[in-house]
Amino acid sequence: MGTGMKWIATVLCALAFGAGSVTATIAAEGEEIDRHGMENDMPIPVDDAKALENGKERYGARCSYCHTPLGRGGSSSVCLACQKYKWGSKSSAIYATIAAGRPGTKMGAFATSLSQEEIVNIIAYIRTLQEKKIQDDLASAKQ
Ligand code: HEC
Repeated sequence: MGTGMKWIATVLCALAFGAGSVTATIAAEGEEIDRHGMENDMPIPVDDAKALENGKERYGARCSYCHTPLGRGGSSSVCLACQKYKWGSKSSAIYATIAAGRPGTKMGAFATSLSQEEIVNIIAYIRTLQEKKIQDDLASAKQ
């Protein structure tokens, strides 16, 4: 019994060390993460907690039923959390997509039902969804 417990302790210890080194590797690789497609060429309140909260709320109310809460598919078949966009992923292009819609597709125009501020807040929130996907992909690549 005593030996068994020692063995378990050794395994737990190895796991703890293993987990520590995985975290370190992810952090080290974080320096080289490719964030192309996330460029903001107009002011987007990415560091403003209140704006992000509003963007999250508006996204949840107006966008997520087609784009899903994490922006990774759904009925839109579009991955907003990815970095490659068909219609352009610089903030000015996303703004145009949301405001004017993309005629001939199910992506409608929101210029009359969302304010300019709400649209930029939503774009700030979409940037957090992209960042979350980068981090999730890194974490699952390490498993
Ligand atoms: C009725 C479903 C629906 C709703 C609601 C909707 N979308 Fe879309 N959206 C789509 C579809 C479908 C596309 C793909 C259009 C195409 O075929 O290119 C799309 C495309 C987009 C794109 C372009 C993606 C690319 O690859 O260029 C963006 C950005 C986007 N939507 C953001 C939003 C935001 C933000 C909201 C909420 C304000 C929203 N959408 C609401 C269905 C929807």
